[in-house]
Amino acid sequence: MKLVLDCDPGLDDAVAILVAAHYADLIGITTVAGNVGINRTTRNALVVAQVAGVDVPIHRGAARPLAGAAVDGSRIHGQTGLGNSVLPDLTWSEASDDAVAYICDTARSVDDLHLLAIGPLTNVALALQRDPDLRRHLAGLTIMGGGAHIGNITPVAEFNIWADPEAAAVVFEKAAPVTMVGLDVTNRVVFGDGDIARMRATATPATELAANVVEYLLDRFREYLGHSTVPVHDATAVIAATHPQLFEKSRHPIAVELSGAHTRGMTVADLRPAALGRALDQPRPPTSDVVWGTDVEAVRELIVEAVVAY
Ligand code: RIB
Ligand code: CA
Repeated sequence: MKLVLDCDPGLDDAVAILVAAHYADLIGITTVAGNVGINRTTRNALVVAQVAGVDVPIHRGAARPLAGAAVDGSRIHGQTGLGNSVLPDLTWSEASDDAVAYICDTARSVDDLHLLAIGPLTNVALALQRDPDLRRHLAGLTIMGGGAHIGNITPVAEFNIWADPEAAAVVFEKAAPVTMVGLDVTNRVVFGDGDIARMRATATPATELAANVVEYLLDRFREYLGHSTVPVHDATAVIAATHPQLFEKSRHPIAVELSGAHTRGMTVADLRPAALGRALDQPRPPTSDVVWGTDVEAVRELIVEAVVAY
């Protein structure tokens, strides 16, 4: 699978880069502001690729959402966006500062390209505004984001959607079908100390970095929630794109709430029978897929195996 990864590294994005490079033909990375600002997400993508030897072009993207103020996830991801990892001097440099042009040009020039977005959807929305036919030139569009009536950054909104709801609304409206790998499934693939130890056992710079970022994420979940395991959301989304046969999904109308005082950023998946929508004169086409479940053990194993390959 030929893949472009749009990301906001970000602790779990860092692991996702390794997993994507291991299982897909990763032809490029684009960065977006999200977990931390665009300078840091771009630097973090470069340093992860440099440390792991993932030699792909990295294009800087949007610094702020389509509307509203830029958000920040440093409470979870740390000020650098990669926890407390000791990062080497950066010798690699970004291929361009125009992720949107890269996405549009690559979608038109590369056959069977799959776009996987694991951060706020700002770049994807801007690409759709630049090229309304973008979706026709993609073999697939998968996002880590949202959830059917489940949230993390608010009771009903997931961070990537909440960080730029206007962009998410554009993507679900203009780029269907979208495969939504949301919290319904990513919350279920969790990692603990044993998985971190397995990653660390090979003691390479890349596995050390991966183990450190997962351990930092786990420490936040211990600190805030008392949990002994932690989801690595973005890595699970990569496996959903590269190993779709492991996942259950169903197609529904999905809308993004933009104005609700308590629900802004919610992905509203209409799970009612389509016939009821028609009977109530609410005919909204089921255009995107909600990913519900997976073989959790198999996905966790695939992620650890990918990491220890670096
Ligand atoms: O809600 C999980 C998502 O928010 C992941 O993409 C993680 O990187 C954070 O940005
Ligand atoms: Ca992310």
